[in-house]
Amino acid sequence: MIDTILEVDRIRKKYVIEKSFLGREKIVLDAVNDISFSIKKGECFALVGESGCGKSTTARTILKLIDADGGKVIFEDKTLFDVENKKSISNKEMCRLRKDMQIIFQDPFASLDKRMKVGQIIAEGIKKHRLIHGKDAFNIAEEYLRICGMDKEAINRYPHEFSGGQRQRIGIARALAVQPKFVVADEPVASLDVSIQAQIINLLNELKTRYLLTFLFISHDLGVVKYFCDRIAVMYLGNIVELAEKKDLFDNPMHPYTKMLLESMPVSHPKLRKQRLSIKESEMTLKDRENGCKFCNRCLYAYERCKNEIPVFKEIEGDHFIACHLYD
Ligand SMILES: Nc1ncnc2c1ncn2[C@@H]1O[C@H](COP(=O)(O)OP(=O)(O)OP(=O)(O)O)[C@@H](O)[C@H]1O
Ligand SMILES: [Mg+2]
Repeated sequence: MIDTILEVDRIRKKYVIEKSFLGREKIVLDAVNDISFSIKKGECFALVGESGCGKSTTARTILKLIDADGGKVIFEDKTLFDVENKKSISNKEMCRLRKDMQIIFQDPFASLDKRMKVGQIIAEGIKKHRLIHGKDAFNIAEEYLRICGMDKEAINRYPHEFSGGQRQRIGIARALAVQPKFVVADEPVASLDVSIQAQIINLLNELKTRYLLTFLFISHDLGVVKYFCDRIAVMYLGNIVELAEKKDLFDNPMHPYTKMLLESMPVSHPKLRKQRLSIKESEMTLKDRENGCKFCNRCLYAYERCKNEIPVFKEIEGDHFIACHLYD
């Protein structure tokens, strides 16, 4: 039996945006549209795609930080929500589960309370979730700061006294100090310099092995997930368009959008740079988005069917899934 820790089944989330004054005209945005995947225990699963494609909305829906409009999420043996069958875990039980399901944010400064000392910030979760109080909680906070590469003196200082990379280490220490099983890392290195990014990825890799953690790792950069993840799901405008093992995705990308993302990764050799796929850039109309493949206006290989029929997400080869008419 495959040891699945998280099962995401056809989740949907839409936002209603008021377009005109007094809210008379409204636009419904399908931020997440029928997304399904599962994550195995100890696996690092990546969600990759351009800004605005719905990565954070997916993560926040899974963690029940926002309410889903459809679908179901099961964590271990607990159904967090099942919209169609009107089931939802109680707030009390969800509160308990938050210990096991932690999140590391993109902007560590915004997510750390500026008025609290680092020790208090980390100890807060330890007190709440591990029921350890007083000096013991601060000792544990100090230990996790050390594990995350920080000096123990950091405990008495404020977040603004640290650099971006150090603040991210504090954010990681805070998440891990409650001993979670599953961690969502939402663009954890996107706001950092490239050299610091590598240090934080190395740290997360060490912690993943040390604590046998399972990750949902979100990034807009395939270069970042290459060094961290086992399987990768590529998202485009609210849908997963391709899902495969990391090696398979890099060696044998199938969806034109995945190819485009790979082509846009920095390439050092000029010959390779020349071979890059050029993609038609044109604005997508709402009509196209409703009726056909959402990527068709940017796709070099699009044909008539792509404009009129939504491609079904299906398995093409063993464990390699894709939503594209080119492979029908
Ligand atoms: N609270 C909200 N109200 C209305 N629209 C929203 C809200 N949150 C997100 N959106 C919209 O939903 C879409 C998906 O947003 P989301 O933040 O999930 O994307 P993302 O892939 O995480 O992007 P980024 O890489 O920039 O973080 C975007 O078009 C965004 O503008
Ligand atoms: Mg985001």
